[in-house]
Amino acid sequence: MDQKFAFLESISKDPGNLIKGLQLVQATEGFVSDDAIRAVAEYFSIPAVEIEGVLSFYAQFKRVKPGKHQISVCDGTACHIKGAVLVKEWLHQELGIQSGETDAKGLFSLQTVACLGCCSLAPVMSVDGRVYAKLDRRSVVKILKEYAEK
Ligand code: FES
Repeated sequence: MDQKFAFLESISKDPGNLIKGLQLVQATEGFVSDDAIRAVAEYFSIPAVEIEGVLSFYAQFKRVKPGKHQISVCDGTACHIKGAVLVKEWLHQELGIQSGETDAKGLFSLQTVACLGCCSLAPVMSVDGRVYAKLDRRSVVKILKEYAEK
């Protein structure tokens, strides 16, 4: 097994521990890479294709390396009414990514969430946990620029 994944040895090789093993990989690496799948398959003696199936079933697992900054765009009811679709479109135009993806430079990952808990300030998004409210195209571009320089 690839020594990079030797930390799996802290878990018993019982195939029933597969989810635990994948959670450990994600906690350690930030995502589950193709190399990690090979290592997990070997360790638990489970076919890689079966592990791919498990990963696609559980939304908690990320298959793409997360970007340096995490953007969460709210598409809850209030934000949707106030233009969340446009916010996602602006982000797509600026970064070239859709929800669930990371940009080519590895700077930003984008996800859509149901509500960030500040509906009266819609439309909102958060970057690395900090909330930005009443977004328009200009503010979105400015926020991205600031984080790209961090
Ligand atoms: S719906 Fe967007 S913050 Fe609640």
